[in-house]
Amino acid sequence: CGIVGYIGYKDAKEILLSGLEKLEYRGYDSAGIAVRDAQDVKVFKEKGRIADLRKIVDEKISTVTGIGHTRWATHGVPSRENAHPHQSQSGRFTLVHNGVIENYEQLTKDYLFDVPLKSDTDTEVIVQLIELFASEGLETEAAFRKTLQLLKGSYAIGLLDREDPDTIFAAKNKSPLLVGLGEGFNVIASDAMAMIQVTDQFVELMDKEVVLLTNEKVIIENLNGEEIKRAPYTAELDASDIEKGTYPHYMLKEIDEQPLVMRKIIQAYQNEQEQLAVDSEIVEALKAADRLYIIACGTSYHAGLVGKQYLESLAKIPTEVHVASEFVYNMPLLSKNPLFIFISQSGETADSRAVLVKVKEMGYQALTITNVQGSTLSREADYTLLLHAGPEIAVASTKAYTAQVSVLAILAHAAAEALGMKTNLNLVHELGIIANAMEMLCDAKDEFEQIARDYLTTTRNCFFIGRAIDYYVGLEGALKLKEISYIQAEGFAGGELKHGTIALIEDGTPVMALATQEKVNLSIRGNVKEVAARGANPCIISMKGLESEDDRFVIPAVHELLTPLVSVVPLQLIAYYAALHRDCDVDKPRNLAKSVTVE
Ligand code: G6P
Repeated sequence: CGIVGYIGYKDAKEILLSGLEKLEYRGYDSAGIAVRDAQDVKVFKEKGRIADLRKIVDEKISTVTGIGHTRWATHGVPSRENAHPHQSQSGRFTLVHNGVIENYEQLTKDYLFDVPLKSDTDTEVIVQLIELFASEGLETEAAFRKTLQLLKGSYAIGLLDREDPDTIFAAKNKSPLLVGLGEGFNVIASDAMAMIQVTDQFVELMDKEVVLLTNEKVIIENLNGEEIKRAPYTAELDASDIEKGTYPHYMLKEIDEQPLVMRKIIQAYQNEQEQLAVDSEIVEALKAADRLYIIACGTSYHAGLVGKQYLESLAKIPTEVHVASEFVYNMPLLSKNPLFIFISQSGETADSRAVLVKVKEMGYQALTITNVQGSTLSREADYTLLLHAGPEIAVASTKAYTAQVSVLAILAHAAAEALGMKTNLNLVHELGIIANAMEMLCDAKDEFEQIARDYLTTTRNCFFIGRAIDYYVGLEGALKLKEISYIQAEGFAGGELKHGTIALIEDGTPVMALATQEKVNLSIRGNVKEVAARGANPCIISMKGLESEDDRFVIPAVHELLTPLVSVVPLQLIAYYAALHRDCDVDKPRNLAKSVTVE
């Protein structure tokens, strides 16, 4: 979910709605705003997208203060009743919330037994508690702080009090929230993108902090009411970076941006000797570690699998890759001197953050690889490496994946050099070749559109196979396809098929096979024959130099370690066109959100 708030002198409803549009990547199953006019606080909320909300907001209402929310359902189905903002029983307090309150049922029993609740959400409990404590005589700020002290879980909150027209109250714990500063106005938002149209000056909030905003002032306090001073920073975001321009979808724009991202990464990581390098303290941390633990979710996890290959083959450091939500309670036996590497496009994923908090408590060091400077995972780790991919807005991650894989290659290479290992890998040169190869692939869209048409227009399922590093790219290709086209897609190691999955092969089942690795070229082709003999419809994507005449597409030759950076591009484009042909909402697939800030 994402939240926004504005208090100032301009038309608040428009600022809130366009802010929420920028936050839709965080959830889009329902949305709402609360604005105050001269008399009262008015709530507009609707199931569906911000576009649906826009239709019901009263155009004529004149307002300079308000809060807003776009939702990814956790407690309670997506519906108008469960959409935010929520109001207290008397209507005095109105609140938006991102996060999960774990003890809301207990709080309802202990405090709200005679309050009739209007929704099934944990959020309503917060606003009813504030009203309860206010009705017992507390000032709003004190009632708010008392409520926050009772909450267990995560929250970013925006609160309006009908009786105090000049203030927005806000608070944060675990869920992201920033304060934006302006001349004669102030704002809150889950991320800087949402408010970059009105300001580039932001103040970070830490967990368990409360904020009071007026149009002139921002006061940050801890839960005990002690004031905290913190300087603002300038968000380096270009408003045009977050526009689609002439593209029909963000996903297509972001796929096309990949060559540029490669070049930006080369620039950002080049040192004076024109070599790609990372900060010496990060290299030292890797050198000191006897084992690396990569923690991530979704696409970032798939990038981590490729990263393990780099760290082990170049730097010879044993590396494990774990899904964050499993690692947090099912931790393997750790080595003596572990270093944790968190990979997260958004830097906000709650599952990953839960692991970070845990390993920091255990006294270990952590490095975050993220696209978002100042994000929670970046702030809370000891070290950060940035992806320089620019804002990624489509829910299905594309350019962030290739940026993650590149940065992992740079990291592994830097560690190898520092450990005195010969790699014979000139990354500036190789990544330059990759950028050109990606350009060529992006220019071949028609061919990938045709593949999608030939293989995926009506199919119910699709398999991706590969061996060695191609297997990991297949996992990512399958994830892309299932996320946006809803085709049941799975990635498998080529050799493992015969141990079960091959039973699923029927006449015409599409099987996407990657063949970019010389050492397994013959064996993966053997696997293709096995499925073809059972009726499958194979589509082989190979690399120049390894091709054979049955191949459907041949990608340009690149360094054998770096093939994921190019072989993933056809899979991204095939998924894109498959979704398009099946009339799916490419940028906002059902049930998903880009940044999942709940565990
Ligand atoms: C969500 C998104 C995925 C993404 C994953 C990890 O589930 O839908 O596309 O890969 O989160 O996100 P992160 O920001 O941590 O890379």
